[in-house]
Amino acid sequence: MQRLPCRGSLIILIMLTLTTLHSRRSTPTRQLAAPGPDATQLQRMLEAAVRVPDHGKRVPFRLLRIAGDAREALANAAQARQLELDPLAGEAVLEKLRTRFTAPPLTLAVVAILGEDSKIPVSERFSSAACVAFQLLQAAQAEGFAAQWLTGWLAYDRPFLEHTLGLSEHEQLIGTIAVGTPTLEAPERERPDVAALLQDWAP
Ligand SMILES: Cc1cc2nc3c(=O)[nH]c(=O)nc-3n(C[C@H](O)[C@H](O)[C@H](O)COP(=O)(O)O)c2cc1C
Repeated sequence: MQRLPCRGSLIILIMLTLTTLHSRRSTPTRQLAAPGPDATQLQRMLEAAVRVPDHGKRVPFRLLRIAGDAREALANAAQARQLELDPLAGEAVLEKLRTRFTAPPLTLAVVAILGEDSKIPVSERFSSAACVAFQLLQAAQAEGFAAQWLTGWLAYDRPFLEHTLGLSEHEQLIGTIAVGTPTLEAPERERPDVAALLQDWAP
């Protein structure tokens, strides 16, 4: 059985946890560089990521790792598909697409598995899979890295999803989570005002 920490350590633990939650922010993918997580760090991130609420214990998600040479290969495939969709795509568009996969040392594609289910609605299974993506952002930052969740056209392009990423017709891409070491400090953005969002419900 785990020993309970004393009150002083407990307060420090709470403060540390809340500081982590309160300081989460994205870093643009183009500003991510090596090093990325090593095998142990990635294992810890994944263990955190799969600890999501999951109605019916369906495990409606899986992950694809894009690292090493696969980064360049995926960038090439994405550029080729972009040119199929828009033969006039400019150099800036193509370069942005390349950087999306080549700048970060690690990208994790979060896939939602959404086939027929007599009991659990698609929206609930999608929600669980989206929680995996968010949890990856949190875990990456807790490990000392920065991360960003991206979608873009390729998250909705069935030929790209099925022929390039290997998704089945019942799967959707929740997004790609780019992870790495920030080359610049990401500026904070204005956050929603909690007080304005919270109302007491009354009958
Ligand atoms: C489902 C989803 C898809 C997103 N797709 C993109 C995207 O394609 N391009 C982009 O610049 N930001 C995208 N974002 C936003 C960034 O991930 C990030 O949240 C945003 O830059 C704000 O930064 P913050 O996470 O620090 O609040 C997406 C966010 C979500 C939740």
